[in-house]
Amino acid sequence: MALGKWVVTSKLCLVLFSGQGFFYAVSWRIKNYIRQRRERMIDDMKEQLEAIRAEADAELSAVKDAKALDALRVKFLGKKGALTAILKQMGKLTAEERPVMGQLANEVRTFIEEAIAAKQTEITRLEMQARLASETIDVTLPGQKQSLGSLHPLAIVENEIKEIFLGMGFEIADGPEVEYDYYNFEALNLPPDHPARDTQDTFYITDNILLRTQTSSVQVHVMENQKPPIRVISPGRVFRSDAVDATHSPLFHQIEGLVVDKGITMADLKGTLEMLMKRLYGPDCKIRLRPHHFPFTEPSAEVDVMCFGCMGKGCRICKNEGYIELLGAGMVHPKVLEGCGIDSSVYSGFAFGLGLERVVMRRYNISDMRLLFENDYRFLEQF
Ligand code: PHE
Repeated sequence: MALGKWVVTSKLCLVLFSGQGFFYAVSWRIKNYIRQRRERMIDDMKEQLEAIRAEADAELSAVKDAKALDALRVKFLGKKGALTAILKQMGKLTAEERPVMGQLANEVRTFIEEAIAAKQTEITRLEMQARLASETIDVTLPGQKQSLGSLHPLAIVENEIKEIFLGMGFEIADGPEVEYDYYNFEALNLPPDHPARDTQDTFYITDNILLRTQTSSVQVHVMENQKPPIRVISPGRVFRSDAVDATHSPLFHQIEGLVVDKGITMADLKGTLEMLMKRLYGPDCKIRLRPHHFPFTEPSAEVDVMCFGCMGKGCRICKNEGYIELLGAGMVHPKVLEGCGIDSSVYSGFAFGLGLERVVMRRYNISDMRLLFENDYRFLEQF
């Protein structure tokens, strides 16, 4: 123990000497001791710095990825790192000692920083090489087949019909599927207890809210909101309490048509429908109007289209009729016009309602309506 030894020695001196000589000796020893301690401390710090440099160097050579490199950076250069710990001790040094030690510390820092940067470049290069190797693709291999969906036949034909009417200057109107009794029946001249309601029984949400049985309800919405001239079609879903079979479904689709203007006649109705059918089925297609009754049109007609199986002669497809029924139509009843605030002495109009499923079935020779709703891929993939 240096201090212990010194105490013993100085006590001995005290006994052996007295006066000034003794004090000189003591102060020399103290100075000498302090100087030696400082030198040792500086040597210690230098050694530590060298040790840090060596340790960093050794550890760096083992680093293989960016994460480890980051950990190493923190360990040596971070706020709580080895180098910072040494720098904190600089306060103990004198003004002459500090720059010397500072220079050494900086050298070590620069060394470590440069080594880390070099390693970083190396790692980035290796990672890129590994990625290039793992992501190599053989462009000569055949591709993986992606199965693409396609439009449902109902959508295909609906789009086609929309296209035809847009070309004739019609607009497309929309209306709610959950509807008031008023729009579905009453405003269409079907007051409560009208016998024609029986053929269109539906699903009631309340006594006066129901699932619409026909897109004709949209006629009323349009006429309430729009002044003539009116030229709209309105495709959409309708609902009826029908049992499912080859030609019936409780949910099906209609496309409503409505034209209201001055001087509209039955000839306009026939011309428009003929144009539609020729566009859908080819220029030789003929249509036939049969008298019928709808409460909201007067006069009313059912419209048949010539059977393509036999060109009107009669065959199995048309059950020997030569024609197939496709839609209902007629001149908008004056009561309906007036109910929507349109003066029936100035304006007249025609309306029609086309069953979309029937058109689709005819177009693709589909004999069972259920196929359109079962969503069987084997069926749908054919379109
Ligand atoms: N809405 C009628 C039905 O569903 C069809 C129709 C529409 C008839 C427009 C005449 C005018 O049967």
